[in-house]
Amino acid sequence: MSRRVAAALVVLCAATTVAVLAGDEDDITLPGCRSRCGNMSIPYPFGVEAGCYLPGFNVTCRRRNGDGPAAAADELLFLGDGTVQVLEISIPNATVLINSSAGYFDGDKYVSLSSPGTWSGALGSGDGDGVGVYSLAWGRNKLFAMGYNVQVRLEADNETSSVCVSLFFEGNFAAPTDDCAGFLCCQSPIWDQRTSYRFKALSLNGSAASLESDTYAWILDSELRFQYGAPQKDALTLPALLDWRINHTTCHANASSPACRSRHSFCHDGSLEVCRRNDSLCHNSTAGFGRAHICRCDEGYRGNPYLPNNGCKDVNECDHPDTYPCHGICTNTDGGYKCECVPGFAGNASVPTGCKDIDECAHPHLYPCYGVCLNKMGSFDCQCKRGTYGDPFTKGGCSYLTGGSTSKDLLG
Ligand SMILES: *[C@@H]1O[C@H](CO)[C@@H](O)[C@H](O)[C@H]1NC(C)=O
Ligand SMILES: *[C@@H]1O[C@H](CO)[C@@H](O)[C@H](O)[C@H]1NC(C)=O
Ligand SMILES: *[C@@H]1O[C@H](CO)[C@@H](O)[C@H](O)[C@H]1NC(C)=O
Ligand SMILES: *[C@@H]1O[C@H](CO)[C@@H](O)[C@H](O)[C@H]1NC(C)=O
Ligand SMILES: *[C@@H]1O[C@H](CO)[C@@H](O)[C@H](O)[C@H]1NC(C)=O
Ligand SMILES: *[C@@H]1O[C@H](CO)[C@@H](O)[C@H](O)[C@H]1NC(C)=O
Ligand SMILES: *[C@@H]1O[C@H](CO)[C@@H](O)[C@H](O)[C@H]1NC(C)=O
Ligand SMILES: *[C@@H]1O[C@H](CO)[C@@H](O)[C@H](O)[C@H]1NC(C)=O
Ligand SMILES: *[C@@H]1O[C@H](CO)[C@@H](O)[C@H](O)[C@H]1NC(C)=O
Ligand SMILES: *[C@@H]1O[C@H](CO)[C@@H](O)[C@H](O)[C@H]1NC(C)=O
Ligand SMILES: *[C@@H]1O[C@H](CO)[C@@H](O)[C@H](O)[C@H]1NC(C)=O
Repeated sequence: MSRRVAAALVVLCAATTVAVLAGDEDDITLPGCRSRCGNMSIPYPFGVEAGCYLPGFNVTCRRRNGDGPAAAADELLFLGDGTVQVLEISIPNATVLINSSAGYFDGDKYVSLSSPGTWSGALGSGDGDGVGVYSLAWGRNKLFAMGYNVQVRLEADNETSSVCVSLFFEGNFAAPTDDCAGFLCCQSPIWDQRTSYRFKALSLNGSAASLESDTYAWILDSELRFQYGAPQKDALTLPALLDWRINHTTCHANASSPACRSRHSFCHDGSLEVCRRNDSLCHNSTAGFGRAHICRCDEGYRGNPYLPNNGCKDVNECDHPDTYPCHGICTNTDGGYKCECVPGFAGNASVPTGCKDIDECAHPHLYPCYGVCLNKMGSFDCQCKRGTYGDPFTKGGCSYLTGGSTSKDLLG
């Protein structure tokens, strides 16, 4: 019964949208370094070969089925020397999505699908300073569990990080809801960052003995949603989101770091979600993750700030009218853009009706007319007065025609 429950879970929505403004695919890493593994990008500071990564960011690319003439699509990417599988690396978000194993309880017996009893998902591994480059992305993962009449706990250092309860009543014919709010499955956010976690499954009365069902628990990317449906064997590993940091030092006063090598890049302190949400938590995070920095591209630039020289590239704002609306003439500039009204109009071209017709006749010093001035939409007419002929735009350009010869009557 419980196994059937577990097998009936599918990932409904893997909310991985490709960033519209992503940098060019061609130079994401250092020259001569491997940039792809299967269908995965390997952006610097991550790298496979020696000299191709910053300390702690080594990754391993392996064939799923060992050596042989297998297709490149059969390659998998792993953090470090290769137990934690990478699903996606994001440079701007400074995150890596991993394929994370469930904790599994067979009745009351813990049978881990990951390392013995714990979930570490590469946390704390990396640059060997005891802190590591990876931590659980703060506030962006949840404890997710399946089973029934069970409370599932996520513990770290003997403290509870998150807990959720999943129920099932005999005779209750309600269907499980998509949000897994406690009927056959449950979920609850995780708000801390530890170097390792441990799953626990208890009966509703708090005892660890005699669980009524097999129980599965995951640390799961918060953005993923679930729905019951056809069985799917892949459901035993689900994506979790890790933060990564260049260095567990701050940016040293005025935002410098040897890692931010691109032009138009800067060092960003307190880059953790924790710091963004609550600065006072930033400096005292349990595992020391609070002190850290990453690199960012300047405003108006996108790309890879860790690459020397040209990693951060100018964004052509004019190509992205949804983000940078322009209802006039858009001109890209280095690090910015200009949005101007078409000739004859003035105002704020960034808003739909921002450009107004210029009444040229009201500004004779800007739009000289020495005849009769008539404003039009986007332009104006200037004609010599009735009975005169010539060039109304220059002073004295209009004159009367008298019997075949012109008299230089000055008009205007
Ligand atoms: C890579 O391929 C897998 C399976 O074909 C797919 O689920 C995944 O979305 C792909 N990832 C990227 C980054 O294209
Ligand atoms: C690769 O990373 C792992 C763990 O992050 C580390 O133990 C190992 O020494 C690294 N290997 C190299 C060649 O840097
Ligand atoms: C980056 O973070 C944003 C906001 O949480 C998210 O919508 C987007 O999917 C993320 N991109 C990647 C590549 O992880
Ligand atoms: C995640 O790992 C499991 C078990 O190794 C594997 O079956 C599954 O294909 C992996 N998922 C992806 C998207 O590669
Ligand atoms: C957690 O609790 C166990 C048993 O009570 C104890 O042996 C262990 O030292 C504790 N660990 C920490 C990190 O407090
Ligand atoms: C707790 O409940 C389980 C059944 O779920 C039962 O086997 C066990 O005896 C109960 N323990 C206590 C202390 O009541
Ligand atoms: C940082 O820069 C500001 C101006 O940009 C300057 O006033 C300040 O002295 C600098 N601080 C250090 C420590 O260099
Ligand atoms: C990390 O910080 C230390 C101390 O400031 C510095 O010596 C080292 O070069 C930094 N490493 C990187 C990759 O920025
Ligand atoms: C930030 O965290 C501190 C320490 O836990 C707390 O006292 C403070 O109220 C928090 N501030 C906000 C805005 O949440
Ligand atoms: C942070 O840690 C420092 C020393 O480790 C301590 O003096 C300070 O009170 C702590 N701050 C908070 C908000 O816990
Ligand atoms: C034009 O309108 C936009 C959107 O309301 C505003 O952000 C911008 O500051 C305006 N520009 C000028 C020059 O007023």
